[in-house]
Amino acid sequence: MLNNAKWISYPVDMGFECPALFKSFKARGAVKRATLTISARGCYYATLNGERIGDFIFAPGCTSLKRVQVQTYDITKMLSEDNEIEITLSKGWFKGRICWKGTQIFPNNNECVIAELAISYKDGSSELIVTDESWGAKKSPVRFSDFYDGEHFDANFVDDAPTKAIVQDFSNDILVPQQGEIIKEQETISAFKIFKTPKGETVIDFAQNLTGYFEIFVNAKKGDKVSLSFAEVLDSEGNFYTENYRSAKAEFEYTCRDGYQSYKPRLAFWGYRYIRVNSFPCEVTLDSIKAIVVHSDIKRTGSLDSSSPLLNQLFKNIFWGQKGNFLDIPTDCPQRDERMGWTGDAQVFCKTASYNYDVEKFFEKWLTDLRLDQEKDGCVPSVIPQFWGDGWSGCGWGDASTICPWQIYLTYGNKDILKKQFNSMCAYLKYISSKSKNRYLWTGCDHYADWLGLDAPAGSYKGSSRDDFLASTYYLYSTSLVIKAGRVLGRSVAKYEALYEKILMAIRKKYKKYKTQTEHVIALHFGIAEDKSATAKALADMIVANGTRLQTGFLGTPYLLHALSSNGYSELAYDLLLQEAFPSWLYSVKQGATTIWEHWDGVNDKGEFWSKDMNSFNHYAYGAVADWVYGVACGIQTVEEFPGFERIVIAPVPTDKLDHLSASIMTRHGLISSKWYHDNGKIRYEITTPSKTTVIIDGKEYNVEKGSYIF
Ligand code: BGC
Repeated sequence: MLNNAKWISYPVDMGFECPALFKSFKARGAVKRATLTISARGCYYATLNGERIGDFIFAPGCTSLKRVQVQTYDITKMLSEDNEIEITLSKGWFKGRICWKGTQIFPNNNECVIAELAISYKDGSSELIVTDESWGAKKSPVRFSDFYDGEHFDANFVDDAPTKAIVQDFSNDILVPQQGEIIKEQETISAFKIFKTPKGETVIDFAQNLTGYFEIFVNAKKGDKVSLSFAEVLDSEGNFYTENYRSAKAEFEYTCRDGYQSYKPRLAFWGYRYIRVNSFPCEVTLDSIKAIVVHSDIKRTGSLDSSSPLLNQLFKNIFWGQKGNFLDIPTDCPQRDERMGWTGDAQVFCKTASYNYDVEKFFEKWLTDLRLDQEKDGCVPSVIPQFWGDGWSGCGWGDASTICPWQIYLTYGNKDILKKQFNSMCAYLKYISSKSKNRYLWTGCDHYADWLGLDAPAGSYKGSSRDDFLASTYYLYSTSLVIKAGRVLGRSVAKYEALYEKILMAIRKKYKKYKTQTEHVIALHFGIAEDKSATAKALADMIVANGTRLQTGFLGTPYLLHALSSNGYSELAYDLLLQEAFPSWLYSVKQGATTIWEHWDGVNDKGEFWSKDMNSFNHYAYGAVADWVYGVACGIQTVEEFPGFERIVIAPVPTDKLDHLSASIMTRHGLISSKWYHDNGKIRYEITTPSKTTVIIDGKEYNVEKGSYIF
């Protein structure tokens, strides 16, 4: 790919100033077709005759440092007789602050671009313009750019001493065709209100915590400055609060030219709801700044609705959490100095994600990166792409390597994902056995464990569930997924079946009692508890004794309601779902959340922040509760033997606590929807299915074909 072109860059590393590479050329005659094939180390913003090429934001996207994607754009209509192509580069995910490894691995390489512009003329001739030493190099008006720290743009800036590009020593072997969804501008949101904070600062509220950038509209004199800061929340006094962004400066500065102008940042994004206007040359009105939501171009497939306005807001927050964190990779959060593809978060949310949106391609790409960055000993780094190096896999985090492929297979029904990931899944199990101190238990290793569980000892982020218990149970669970995947692929899985039995026996022997809510949940959900009903009762008792409140963290929460409803405690599951007091899903909604919080107690009921250290207000993980609403409350279930909803079970679990509840998923076979509502003392069910379905209502089974039904 791109075999005729060379990787070119500005001659020296300009730090966080963005260079631009450029070339002028003439079209020799009438053009039939012209394409630009391009990739970069770093992110590129390409223009032809001043007009942006394509709509892929932050191209070439975020991948393992071992590869970069190549894009091709049709630029036929953009060509004139005299042309200038200009490519501005940022360090982006290559050597920006987000990627500590980039600087470590490539100390001597600058951000660089490789491109071929192919023109076919109507007279049958053709021409190839490629990046090489003949290109010019200059400083661009993007005076500063970094994902964490923001962007500075000077509309008057012209480099009066342009120079020549130099060739960077990179192999083309790292080039791969575009694999993922492209990142695009998705929607524009108008300002909701402008107000002065008690400190006297001017703040614009967009009434939605979001990820992206914005467009400014300003009437100015040359040299006037626009300066903006970003925040997700206000503090208890109503002042602009940025401490939870930690070291991410998240600024925007713009130096104006004369007259009316508008500008959208080119190579940076922010996670924000509020914008503080530090300076603006003219009066700030609701029309001065529009928010632009940016994320991977995934298609919405799911919807959820209920009779409870608070629950509906929670559903909205879950969708917004996904939009805000599906920016080419599944990130933990979009605002502070992380924005990483944390594996634990991704596996926790993968099922919900795959019902909410069509994320098959998105996860195929991310799992390819996981495979590439997985270490030789099978270790799955905590963040994928591996932008920092930790060299160990924690339970529930490394297991993204088994859980995500299996879920993507179940939701979309395509075996290829298992084929591609199977060796990686097996390698992960091998890693566990090589690290553990005990053959059939995963013991003596480091873990994030039940991260942020509320039963954490003072000063710890980790809930009180035992590391070795959780690790061993995830070892068991991942083994079960390798067995299932192996069977689908027709591989011999006898060795894993034996391993599974041994792990199960070892866990049952060692852990006779479960201590925390999360330990009970996991013991039930992973089929470990021998006496399910006693374990479920113990879990239910703990929850009730705690005021019908949960205490679970990252590992317990996604399965909490499932563990209850599968064992006779559906009403308690609903009580937790509908709980409004702290800690609960609806607590944050009542506090005005428009996305899912990282911590149950991100803000306590006195309005105080739990900490400034680690307190994101856009962390999708706990939004995983939606999979219970789709799958249990509305009852839409996949059948493992017929994945991708080729056959379906719909077994809704209604409650008197809601008047109605509905869910729908646009699957590969068509739309499934399941709605129930109370109607004159009875419950009615409206079900639409695209495939052979077993509907289960009040324990009675009805086998139906494709169609719409009322029960
Ligand atoms: C991230 C999490 C992540 C965790 C690891 C945090 O800083 O934001 O979501 O999974 O670290 O425990």
